This record gives sequence, structure tokens and C-alpha cells, in this order.
Amino acid sequence: MEKQENLLAQINKAQLPAHIAIIMDGNGRWAEEKGQERLYGHFHGVESVRNIVEGAAELGIGYLTLYAFSTENWDRPQQEVDGLMALLVDTIRKEVPVLNKNNIRLHVIGDMNMLPSFAYKELQEALQLTAANTGLNLIMALSYSSRWELVNAVKNIGKDVAAGVLQAEHITAETLQQYLTTSEFPDPELMIRTSGEYRISNFLLYQLAYAELYFTNTRWPDFRKENLYEAIIDFQARERRFGKTGQQIQAETT
Ligand code: IPE
Ligand code: IPE
Ligand code: MG
Repeated sequence: MEKQENLLAQINKAQLPAHIAIIMDGNGRWAEEKGQERLYGHFHGVESVRNIVEGAAELGIGYLTLYAFSTENWDRPQQEVDGLMALLVDTIRKEVPVLNKNNIRLHVIGDMNMLPSFAYKELQEALQLTAANTGLNLIMALSYSSRWELVNAVKNIGKDVAAGVLQAEHITAETLQQYLTTSEFPDPELMIRTSGEYRISNFLLYQLAYAELYFTNTRWPDFRKENLYEAIIDFQARERRFGKTGQQIQAETT
């Protein structure tokens, strides 16, 4: 607890990342290392979700995106997929009152057509029940992949061009941004991946263009507020240059 307080005190509250995105990885290995089934790891991963959502809300972070299930994850053994879907529905059902109490608005990005109907229904309900909240925006990436999203965006742009709603020569980076599932959200400034894997795994490829990437060996079920604080402290020590030189950036900030 003392360590946590110590870390918290090191965070500059005036320079928080507006949007943090997390690839919550390592549940399966965490469980296997304990001689348990992979689903046991997913169950414990929910504890980390609670803790990190609370931590982000307390700090006053505007947007938190959690990568919970990729379109590629549908190819896992059926038993694991079913277990994850059941866990998802159960968790959402239990958490809605907590989200409302903490003024947290739930969003979801991903291919909802792939979800079993019971999960889809539960999710829609939760979205509605939290829609009026104005605090933290909690974005669950569920059945999400960036290539799916980009293909979808291109399809819709194509349709609008064909319908005469949009002119091809007027397409800008902002136009494309408006066709993404994340059109309402700023780009993530900090992307965290747990469990010692150093890859993006089809997550927000376009939106992460200038995000600071932070990798930790900690498995997701062990990830807690203090780990989040460490990532933010690391983020705040970086010089974000956006293509400019360090000297230019220093001149701008002094
Ligand atoms: C992340 O943990 C959760 C999901 C992808 C649903 P994993 O299940 O990928 O755990 P590892 O990477 O196999 O340890
Ligand atoms: C990425 O984790 C997806 C989620 C965390 C939901 P994976 O464990 O599926 O990624 P890979 O397959 O190791 O790249
Ligand atoms: Mg994994």
C-alpha cells in the first residue's frame, strides 16, 4: 500500500494520458503456472479489470480501452470461448451498478455480429444503462481486430462515395477516423501490454500511430493499480516528438 501511495505521488496529474489502451494478456499462462485450467486465469483477470478501471477513474483518465477478445480469439478451443463468453456476461451483469455508482460509461468496439445472442443482449443493455454517465469512458474491445475495423471503414467509405455523400478527393485522415469504431474517442496516448509479449496483435493499428508503448512482464491477473501508476510515470518521462526534433519540442514547452 505504501508503495502504491508513493507511486501515485509521483504522477503529474496535469499531464495524464487522455486515453490509455491495454492489451490484457497472460491469463492462460498465469493459470497454467499454477497448475490450473486457462479459464481460472480469465476469472482472475476480471479482478484486475475491476482494479484498473477503479484506478483509472480515480486518477481522472478520460478514456480507457481494454482489449478483452480479438476476432482471432474465436479460433481458440470451443470450451475456452464458451467460458469467456459466460464470464463476460456474468461480469457485465454484476458490474453495471458499480459503473453507474462511479459515473463510468461503457462502450464497446468490435464485430458484434459474432457474439452469441445472449452476450449481445446483455451488452446492449449495459450500454444503455450507463449511457448517461459522464466520467470515465470505458471502451471494451470485444471480438475486435484492427484489420476487421479498417476493412469495414473502407467498405462504408466506398458506399458513401458511390451514393454521392462523400467525394473521393475530399477524403482526409479525419474522414477515415470518422469511419472507425473509435470515431468518438481521442487516439490512445499510452498503450500497455502485459505478460512479456512485444506485439500489437491486431489492436488499434491506425489509432496507435503516435502512442507511447509500454510492455511489462507482469501477467494480466497480477496487474494492479501500482502497475498502472508505473506505466503512467514511465509515459510522463518520455519526450513525445511527433516527427519534430527534440530541440523544437523543448522550445515549445519552455
Ligand atoms: C489474454 O490472456 C486474454 C484473452 C486473449 C482472452 P490469454 O488467454 O491470451 O493468456 P496467454 O497469453 O495464453 O497466457
Ligand atoms: C491479444 O492477445 C488479444 C487480447 C488480449 C484480447 P492474444 O493472446 O490473443 O494475442 P497473440 O495471439 O498472443 O498475439
Ligand atoms: Mg495471450
